[in-house]
Amino acid sequence: MTTKHPAHRPANPRFSSGPCAKIPTFSLDKLSDAALGRSHRAAVGKDKLKAAIEGTREILNIPADYRIGIVPASDTGAVEMAMWSLLGERKATMVAWESFGAGWVTDVVKQLKIDAEVKTADYGEIVDFAEIDFDTDVVFTWNGTTSGVRLPNGEAIPAARQGLTICDATSAAFAQDLPRDKLDVTTFSWQKVMGGEAAHGMIVLSPRAVARLESYTPAWPLPKIFRMTKGGKLIEGIFVGETINTPSMLAVEDYLVALDWAREIGGLPKLMNRADTNARVLWDFCDRNDWIANLATDPATRSNTSVCLKFTDERIKDGAAFAKAVAKKLADHNVALDVGAYRDAPAGLRIWCGATVESSDVEALTPWLTWAFEACIEEQA
Ligand SMILES: Cc1ncc(COP(=O)(O)O)c(C=O)c1O
Repeated sequence: MTTKHPAHRPANPRFSSGPCAKIPTFSLDKLSDAALGRSHRAAVGKDKLKAAIEGTREILNIPADYRIGIVPASDTGAVEMAMWSLLGERKATMVAWESFGAGWVTDVVKQLKIDAEVKTADYGEIVDFAEIDFDTDVVFTWNGTTSGVRLPNGEAIPAARQGLTICDATSAAFAQDLPRDKLDVTTFSWQKVMGGEAAHGMIVLSPRAVARLESYTPAWPLPKIFRMTKGGKLIEGIFVGETINTPSMLAVEDYLVALDWAREIGGLPKLMNRADTNARVLWDFCDRNDWIANLATDPATRSNTSVCLKFTDERIKDGAAFAKAVAKKLADHNVALDVGAYRDAPAGLRIWCGATVESSDVEALTPWLTWAFEACIEEQA
């Protein structure tokens, strides 16, 4: 290989889209206050779970009348709990523009077999929200992690709507401005923008979502881990930290530490600003180079967390093999780990730019992208 690699490496090569990089100040001894070996129903455990809920409310500015729960099975658990508990009362509209959204479509159409209109867009594109009937229940993913395409805002969602909006916001929460009055159910996991651990999901319910839960019983059986009501009433305990089943108190502690960090650096505005700054480094890099481009075709929809890039050089013979070779080179040099595009997505790179990533690391990565690209072009020849 003729091209010499850059001298300076990112201090932290962790650019995975989940689990994402831990907070920059992370060390294992920060978890020493975890309520390990104690019951999550003892005062110490309950207090920590409540602090995780209230810390989430504080950092994300979630109104006091919205319920926030910690639920099993990470973001997937939270989304499926919402769909299984709420859908079926009326027609649904399923909206997807990448792999995770497509997974929710499968759940609703093939498993729940609900009367649903399905609206999809290709990787890089987004569905036109102006065409959606919000008197149906609408399920969508705010930030499509595998295409790097996000909803720019919630303007197309009417404040007065008959249906519920169920939003998988796992790679948007803590990095993007989510309009609470437009979202009846919001879900996310700790493992994304906060660099927390997986396994637990969070579900945020608007008063309208609670009203649906208390007035409608689905025709299908609900497993215990999805049940949010008893005798037609919301199980309020879930939303003050009495989890449905046993949580990991180590993961809870880790999330509390991440919330403390978020508070210390300046809360949501600063978290969003960090993601914006990181993503901007890559967007500017794409603008300066004609061999790489954002997968998102409309700049307004570019994700500031899961930045998905495609190679556009005409010399590339096998796009998938080429992108894999670049990702491998970056990993082999411990410069960027886990940055290959998602398995169902078009060939390319996916570089996580969420709040726990340092912009100096994204800056340090860019000359390596050029080096790996040129080296792979050379090797291909
Ligand atoms: C948009 C989206 N939804 C759902 C998931 C699944 O999340 P989890 O594995 O935390 O359940 C992911 C994971 O990357 C995601 O990006």
